[in-house]
Amino acid sequence: MAKKTINDLDMTRWKEYNNIITDSLWIIDKRDNSGLHKGDYHGNFIPQIPQQLINRYTKKGEWVLDAFLGSGTTLIECQKLGRNGIGIDIDPNILEVAKERAMATEGNSKLEFINGDSSKIKLDKYLSKYDIDKVNLIIYHPPYWDIIKFNDIKGNLANLDSLDKFLKGFEKVIDNTAKYLEEERYLGIVIGDIYKNSEWVPLSSHIIQLMLKKNYILKSVVVKNINETKGKQNQKAIWRYRALLGGFYIFNHEYILIFKKPKEKKKKKN
Ligand SMILES: C[S@@+](CC[C@H](N)C(=O)[O-])C[C@H]1O[C@@H](n2cnc3c(N)ncnc32)[C@H](O)[C@@H]1O
Repeated sequence: MAKKTINDLDMTRWKEYNNIITDSLWIIDKRDNSGLHKGDYHGNFIPQIPQQLINRYTKKGEWVLDAFLGSGTTLIECQKLGRNGIGIDIDPNILEVAKERAMATEGNSKLEFINGDSSKIKLDKYLSKYDIDKVNLIIYHPPYWDIIKFNDIKGNLANLDSLDKFLKGFEKVIDNTAKYLEEERYLGIVIGDIYKNSEWVPLSSHIIQLMLKKNYILKSVVVKNINETKGKQNQKAIWRYRALLGGFYIFNHEYILIFKKPKEKKKKKN
């Protein structure tokens, strides 16, 4: 039986795909600011992240879910790359921005924008609108716990007051959404570690453990450089001073954790 393909890459032409990254270290110095990508939402990710994941893990016409949509980077990319997309965000204002930008991007994709808490939203009714019951790729870009205060909305993972609550909140989002991922397909979690009370808090490691416990298969841990925003550049000197004094290294990377959903076990008939 032929192997089921999960992308449109023609492996007889693999040497031509120079734009597809295959290393685990991503040094991307310039964000893609083309079209409606603006990078003005504090805490957005660079479009190259969803772009790489979509090209690698989906085919044209397939469905991508982003459970923390923010300013809509993933759905703009879906529109550009001919994939259908569903985006959820708890903040109705940023969801409007996402909708405006993705809808104004050229393309014929089906796009669905959902305002709500990703740990609670019932996705069945949205999927059934399009006669589907599963998606083919999920991208998660949650708040890195409380380092950016996105909004005051109850349920926002950034507003939880302990690491344990943040991890439990994230786990609920996974439980409520990843069940809609087709088996043997991929999900990407974009997360950074943080520094708190003079300690490195390894959010990425906690999340890897959480996903392994759920039997997801860890396919890659990608380390990506963080592009400096203007604000950060101004603070560079003071952070260097603090680092030298405090015995730590300044964050200049984040992670893209790639997991594959295992094949569902068939229930034994009695
Ligand atoms: C790191 S940002 C995502 C940025 C996005 N990738 C972009 O490029 O604009 C995280 C987003 O998650 C949203 N959020 C936080 N908790 C949520 C929850 N429980 N359900 C849905 N969205 C949530 C926040 O409102 C915020 O917009």
